[in-house]
Amino acid sequence: MLQTERATALFPTARLRRLRRTDALRRMVRETVLSPEDFIYPLFVTHGSGVRDEIAAMPGQYQLSLDQLPAEAEELRELGIPAVLLFGIPARKDPVGSEAYDDQGIVQEAVRTLKQANPDLVVITDVCLCEYTSHGHCGVIVNGDVDNDRSLELLADTAISHALAGADMVAPSDMMDGRVAAIRQGLDRRGLTGVPIMAYSAKYASAFYGPFREAAGSAPQFGDRRSYQMDPPNVREALREIAQDIAEGADLVMVKPALAYLDVLARAREAFPHPLAAYNVSGEYAMVKAAGRMGWIDERRITMEVLTGIKRAGADLIISYHAKDVARWLREG
Ligand code: PBG
Repeated sequence: MLQTERATALFPTARLRRLRRTDALRRMVRETVLSPEDFIYPLFVTHGSGVRDEIAAMPGQYQLSLDQLPAEAEELRELGIPAVLLFGIPARKDPVGSEAYDDQGIVQEAVRTLKQANPDLVVITDVCLCEYTSHGHCGVIVNGDVDNDRSLELLADTAISHALAGADMVAPSDMMDGRVAAIRQGLDRRGLTGVPIMAYSAKYASAFYGPFREAAGSAPQFGDRRSYQMDPPNVREALREIAQDIAEGADLVMVKPALAYLDVLARAREAFPHPLAAYNVSGEYAMVKAAGRMGWIDERRITMEVLTGIKRAGADLIISYHAKDVARWLREG
């Protein structure tokens, strides 16, 4: 028998339906409540001007040029969404991902534009090489394989250039071993000791990233990411990844994707006191949008249920393409 059953009355004295009788009662005993402040909104930034290209498999999400960003920042401010996560689509790709750590790179420019438009917006940058490399892998290739240690310096350089451009936080998503330590050391050596690291710690090799790779043009040109991203069946390994990142200096940790990994989130929540983020990824968004458009599901109710579930499982912060919709729906009540 469960402890809670022994400690409480049983039917007919106990009737759990009593507290579900009216909306007001249900609200009073609600354990998890979403707020716009829970969200981080991803943005895809591209070169050019006047660009607002909708991403086919992510309806309502766009590749945006820099001139579109001030209006975006204003909309987020108005909706009460405190933070963005930036991804860049470079002008050129090469084997070592040069635009990733170019001070005039697209993300660096986007950081400056956004911070100028709204200094209060928390600008977080995704730190990875895959959008910038010609081969589409998250590190540099040596002898046909993604070389861990040679990638670290480039990842640190990327994080430093983002921070120098004014990023409030950097978020490494590459899954190289030792990247958090390399980035922390790199930042600290440049005097950027106040810039926190949100580590994509338990990041799985997931098919749910499909639409994102189209959006960011970052699909690997050969092979896949299984030699660096985690194997989906593993959960104890996720706890080791998180522990390592914390030991290396991560300030916030993340589980990604979210929906098929709620057990990982719940275990991480129990094991670590650190702020915990969940990434409600592109494929999760695409499925809800597609079924909603077909009229097969109630998009609004499904979205709220999914995101409430992610928070209930233990996420303090949710990175989600649904963020603006949710903020609007919460306002409508
Ligand atoms: C870059 C990166 C990816 C995502 C976030 N950062 C893609 C990948 O690892 O292939 C996925 C985000 C999403 O699907 O919404 N490494």
